[in-house]
Amino acid sequence: MGRATGNYGEWGFATRAIHAGQEPDPATGATIVPIYATSTFTQEAPGQHKGYEYSRTANPTRTALETALAALEGGECGLAFASGLAATTAVLAALLRPGDEVVAAADLYGGTFRLLDKVFQPWGVTARYSDDRSPTGFANLLTAKTRLVWVETPTNPLLHILDIAAIAEVAHRHGALLAVDNTFASPYLQQPLRLGADLVVHSTTKYLGGHSDVVGGCVVGSRQVLEPIQFYQNAAGAVAGPFDAFLVLRGLKTLAVRMEQHCANARVLAEWLCRHPAVERVYYPGLPDHPGHEVARRQMRDFGGMISFRVRGGGEQARRVLSRLRLISLAESLGGVESLACHPATMTHASIPPQLREARGIDDGLIRLSVGIETVDDLRADLAQALAC
Ligand SMILES: Cc1ncc(COP(=O)(O)O)c(C=O)c1O
Repeated sequence: MGRATGNYGEWGFATRAIHAGQEPDPATGATIVPIYATSTFTQEAPGQHKGYEYSRTANPTRTALETALAALEGGECGLAFASGLAATTAVLAALLRPGDEVVAAADLYGGTFRLLDKVFQPWGVTARYSDDRSPTGFANLLTAKTRLVWVETPTNPLLHILDIAAIAEVAHRHGALLAVDNTFASPYLQQPLRLGADLVVHSTTKYLGGHSDVVGGCVVGSRQVLEPIQFYQNAAGAVAGPFDAFLVLRGLKTLAVRMEQHCANARVLAEWLCRHPAVERVYYPGLPDHPGHEVARRQMRDFGGMISFRVRGGGEQARRVLSRLRLISLAESLGGVESLACHPATMTHASIPPQLREARGIDDGLIRLSVGIETVDDLRADLAQALAC
């Protein structure tokens, strides 16, 4: 488990991203954390070692990443996993027991819904979903059995904004923990632990890795909250390998500058899409008429690089637009330097039953855009020619 100690709290975000946990290698002076491609570590005598025994338990490249992640989220400790869903699984399995309940915001990543519905529900963990995003909406669903409240903000794919501080207060009043999936914002834009959340989860596959070349996940929180999750990580074993940890570490170094450009490009495109006659509705928290705009201003540094929009003409038109994109790739995932578009109904959120999905507003006309850091005029031109069909 990586621990954020030392000067990290005094450094600015970009400095932490480049240096926290990433001191020159003590053995060789290598400036960049090496990929410790070793499964095991030689001991001087039984139990006498340099802090590492076996790479499922701990590996120096992974420790560096875990330390950097903790420093960026303002947490005591971090744990790096093989995927975002492995991180989510570890949180749920380590903290919940049969009979326990989870209250989650209804708009959430389809894979998280599938995990709760198809994996944890059969093991006796019940999930309740709040369509009402206000703190009262959550309070109404919490019972004496609720151990965990789970939210994303901005949410995937409708970019709703949830008030982290207010929901943390509600969860704590009922004796539950608040976990925030911070994947869409990244710690550069929002640090949920500082707002009262107990756990932060990421798919590091997205903005943290930033280059669409690695799948990973992490959990950050206090030592006390993370202890059972660390036990589960070692016991179950879905750890980030050293090469994957290296790729995420490399991505972190440019997180601050990348996020600035993602946000700047998204703002331009969101405003342009609002004025486009082929577009029925735009979901972007940076728009002043977005219902979560004021909360987003308060809890985020900027409004992020994700936009969803609904085209006029429904599913057929959405499919036509997506097939005509040339520069922007039609692909799952998000948060990479290159722009990606996806059709949530048939891609990222296909695991949600159609009726439930549509009731939640994820209909066939919805398109989700992960705005990359390309020249924004080129992105606008690509969208313009695709929407002109
Ligand atoms: C918000 C969010 N959380 C978690 C995940 C799962 O992460 P991974 O694909 O790395 O398992 C995703 C994946 O798209 C996501 O969008």
